[in-house]
Amino acid sequence: MTDFKLLCSQIRSLAEGEPHWLPVLSNASALIMDAMVDLNWAGFYLTDRSGGKETLLLGPFQGKVACVRIAYGKGVCGTAAKADEPQLVPNVHEFPGHIACDSASNSEVVIPLHAKGEVVGVLDIDSPLLNRFSAEDYAGLESIVATIEAVADLSGLPLGR
Ligand code: SME
Repeated sequence: MTDFKLLCSQIRSLAEGEPHWLPVLSNASALIMDAMVDLNWAGFYLTDRSGGKETLLLGPFQGKVACVRIAYGKGVCGTAAKADEPQLVPNVHEFPGHIACDSASNSEVVIPLHAKGEVVGVLDIDSPLLNRFSAEDYAGLESIVATIEAVADLSGLPLGR
């Protein structure tokens, strides 16, 4: 079982040194990828409002090359961002409109990230295993996002404002 309390305290210490969202999200991706077994992708998509449209732009991550832009409402990430609802998907092949960036992915968790009450991105975690994420993992990943919201300087987000 992943030690989410330790992960949150590591993120807190890193943000004390430098709270800018870019290194905090980059190191959070690295910490999650390192600490959780059976992941093939861990990272962030960030809300981009440029051009009068709201899309998700690929942010800091660990894993294989991924889709650069995802429309709000599309795939697991776009669904989470548009509805402002975390998504726990035991089998991505049963999720209507799932976007297969890495064909190895079989289960996925997506948690919206907020600044000043609005969605500014999502944390996306993928596993090659079906049903990889327990209720404890889901709650732990939510606590990571809550920690980032509390300690990182997210004032530069959303992008393209
Ligand atoms: N599977 C995601 C796309 C992002 S990749 O998994 C990194 C989705 O359906 O939104």
